[in-house]
Amino acid sequence: MSEAVAQTVASRFSELYGAEPDGVWAAPGRVNLIGEHTDYNDGFVMPFALPHQAVAAVSRRADGVLRLHSADVEGGVSELRLDDLAPESDKGWTAYPAGVVWALREAGHAVTGADVHLASTVPSGAGLSSSAALEIVVALALNDLFSLGLRGWQLARLCQRAENVYVGAPVGIMDQTASACCEAGHALFLDTRDLSQKQIPFDLAAEGMRLLVVDTQVKHAHSEGEYGKRRAGCEKGAALLGVDALRDIPYAGLDEALARLGDEEEVRRLVRHVVTEDERVERVVSLLESGQTRAIGPVLVEGHASLRDDFRISCPELDLVVDTALTAGALGARMTGGGFGGSAIVLAEEADVDAITKAITEAFATANFPTPRVFEATPSPGAHRLT
Ligand code: GLA
Repeated sequence: MSEAVAQTVASRFSELYGAEPDGVWAAPGRVNLIGEHTDYNDGFVMPFALPHQAVAAVSRRADGVLRLHSADVEGGVSELRLDDLAPESDKGWTAYPAGVVWALREAGHAVTGADVHLASTVPSGAGLSSSAALEIVVALALNDLFSLGLRGWQLARLCQRAENVYVGAPVGIMDQTASACCEAGHALFLDTRDLSQKQIPFDLAAEGMRLLVVDTQVKHAHSEGEYGKRRAGCEKGAALLGVDALRDIPYAGLDEALARLGDEEEVRRLVRHVVTEDERVERVVSLLESGQTRAIGPVLVEGHASLRDDFRISCPELDLVVDTALTAGALGARMTGGGFGGSAIVLAEEADVDAITKAITEAFATANFPTPRVFEATPSPGAHRLT
């Protein structure tokens, strides 16, 4: 399967650039099991990699030129000079791969140019990290081709910088680290303060369960402004409470912290979400480690309520997925990713999957929402070289 994909991407590269690529690499999208909007608060997250991935055929160049092409976007090859790369100069898809080259060079790595052809199966605008997959696949290819010797977490940091500074989106570190560091059959328990990691076995099929991803097809419109506002609100909370980041507020000290925030109602809601969400991640980890997989369902539901009521980033379509899935017998469900649209996840017994999927599809039709895209997600490998 991945050999066939590598072959297709390599032959398209040869047609475009007139020579075989030096290699072909892949990096996945992700879903987050639990730990939402905690990553820019130095907190905990627990994503796993999807089977959907960005694939890049890449050759190195020595002349300071970067050529980029995507199978998924109309248009020909874009040619850029490395010396001209400048933050926020590009509003198109090329900002992601170009931003990675910019970030590597800015950090002092000798990248002298490249020809790149990309093709991705990660749905874009669905909250499944299509951008991080593009960034990481290019970073990994350049890391190999220029023998930079960078580890997965270091590539993730550079890609986050590319997205924060070059693209101009104030995202955290979860998506890039998930794409770079996840392992098949595992969820990644990540401490976003120091990027320490623990791979947690997560093989639902072996226990007779499934995890569905429901892409509502609602593109996260205006989300970047709202995302930035939530992030700024969390930073205000940390400053008012005199800590470096909200991660430093212990769960046991939450009530006292909320009392200290007085009439800052909005900040209080944001703080409550982040501190309780960190606790939920820790609870899910200990449930999974003690073999109580089904018991994570209610924790996912609590997480959704917190994102809907305290963080206020859900939307009617996401709430409908969660409510319908639970009524149809799901073990748990929640929105996943940045919010304001995108996808929800549903944890279900294998035997209930068809009935739940049907109930969600029917509920969307009744509400006159577009038909959602439902698929099963199995924890898949992180970024790697294909050929
Ligand atoms: C987006 C961002 C991540 C993270 C999530 C919310 O996916 O890219 O850094 O903040 O939203 O958990």
